[in-house]
Amino acid sequence: MAAELLSPLLPRRRRGLAVAAAAPLLALLLVAVIFFRAPLTTTVSSPERVDLTLVAGAREKGAVCLDGSPPAYQLRRGSGSGAHNWLIYLEGGSWCNTTQSCYAQTMSNFGSSKFMRPVNFSGILSKDHLENPDFYDWNIVYVRYCDGASFAGDAEGEDLDGTKLFFRGLRIWEAVVDELMGKGMDNAKQTLLTGCSAGSLAALLHCDNFRGRLPQEVPVKCLSDAGFFIDVKDLSGERSIWSFFNGVVHLHNIREVLPKDCLQNKDPTECFFASELIKSISTPTFILNSDYDVWQIQNILAPNGSYPGQAWSSCKADIRNCSSTQIDVLHGFRKKLVSKLKVAEDKRNWGLFIDSCFTHCQTPSNISWHSPVSPRLDDRTIAEAVGDWYFGRRQDVKLIDCEYPCNPTCSSLLSTA
Ligand SMILES: *[C@@H]1O[C@H](CO)[C@@H](O)[C@H](O)[C@H]1NC(C)=O
Ligand SMILES: *[C@@H]1O[C@H](CO)[C@@H](O)[C@H](O)[C@H]1NC(C)=O
Ligand SMILES: *[C@@H]1O[C@H](CO)[C@@H](O)[C@H](O)[C@H]1NC(C)=O
Ligand SMILES: *[C@@H]1O[C@H](CO)[C@@H](O)[C@H](O)[C@H]1NC(C)=O
Ligand SMILES: *[C@@H]1O[C@H](CO)[C@@H](O)[C@H](O)[C@H]1NC(C)=O
Repeated sequence: MAAELLSPLLPRRRRGLAVAAAAPLLALLLVAVIFFRAPLTTTVSSPERVDLTLVAGAREKGAVCLDGSPPAYQLRRGSGSGAHNWLIYLEGGSWCNTTQSCYAQTMSNFGSSKFMRPVNFSGILSKDHLENPDFYDWNIVYVRYCDGASFAGDAEGEDLDGTKLFFRGLRIWEAVVDELMGKGMDNAKQTLLTGCSAGSLAALLHCDNFRGRLPQEVPVKCLSDAGFFIDVKDLSGERSIWSFFNGVVHLHNIREVLPKDCLQNKDPTECFFASELIKSISTPTFILNSDYDVWQIQNILAPNGSYPGQAWSSCKADIRNCSSTQIDVLHGFRKKLVSKLKVAEDKRNWGLFIDSCFTHCQTPSNISWHSPVSPRLDDRTIAEAVGDWYFGRRQDVKLIDCEYPCNPTCSSLLSTA
């Protein structure tokens, strides 16, 4: 469980295998779709490299990665009508809940900028208007994640074998926003704060704070992608995700970013879950999540535990291998997730795209964000639904899928997720 819980992004190896196995089918599907879906293109723009920038004066502000190195971001300048619009994307990755595991993380890009390499921009980050119709010409900032606690902690470092650790996610957030203000964000015309997985939770945690940093007349909205982690028991009846988050919240001293009204009657760990956070957020927010989120199924619902794990391992790896009994359990998980979204459904100016595809993080990939093989709800891609909501092109963009396997547009994600 430990290794999996630490890494809320899909294991690469499994993804590779699945792609290889499904490649011929996918190719066929692509060809078919290219011919029948004229409005969307498959023109392949080469993935774009955007250089890393280290945050200036980070050490003086104590705004540092787990190992004390300066945090970093990748900024691509906007152009044309997007020159004054800003999209801030908070990277996802691992949380660490113990000194030991945070120390281990300092050996990777999730704990130290020494190991960071630029990531390619695609999906919502793409500069190609065919791949990214509404945000392609905006200033795009991909903020790298290296604090181990969703940009939210603020605690003194602990020593381990003479190595000092730093739990400074909140200061990183503040230092990055300060620096971007000096680079033109203070003159922003429109903004969107987003992120995936642990970064998506961070976007929810900082949403109202970000709103407050910009003048009232500037539109600020938030988009949470795969950050709607729910506080449910696992198959063996343990509250394992709560226990894990509890470790994270206490080690990193996550408090200041949590909603005051929640803290009045709940423990800080409960207030760290998206379903509590959304009750307090007053900025218009869009929740994008699968209600069969593969990371949540693998790590929250069915982590390796005392239930018959063997029988679950192939279902967890590929939803097509689940028995009907297991599918019923997954439907039960879906029901809980959807019921916790009621708060968002009831809020004016909020948006929802809750698909029943077995996936996790759908904005940073051109395949799921906006392509001929993207998942669709109400015949709209995620990019179209988010754009409709952001720009008010349609009222009430609140889309919730039917139960798996009702949505045929999920098929490309089954083989690439
Ligand atoms: C940290 O997480 C692991 C699972 O990844 C768990 O076994 C352990 O009990 C947790 N420790 C604390 C202090 O939260
Ligand atoms: C980014 O794109 C380049 C080609 O432009 C490719 O060589 C590289 O492997 C890609 N990196 C990642 C992490 O996908
Ligand atoms: C946990 O599950 C993964 C697959 O999800 C498997 O590779 C691993 O061997 C399991 N570990 C244990 C201790 O059962
Ligand atoms: C799914 O089931 C098929 C057929 O039984 C099997 O070949 C495949 O290995 C299974 N996939 C996983 C990920 O367990
Ligand atoms: C997504 O982008 C990659 C790299 O730019 C490209 O190889 C792939 O064909 C694209 N996929 C779709 C469905 O557009």
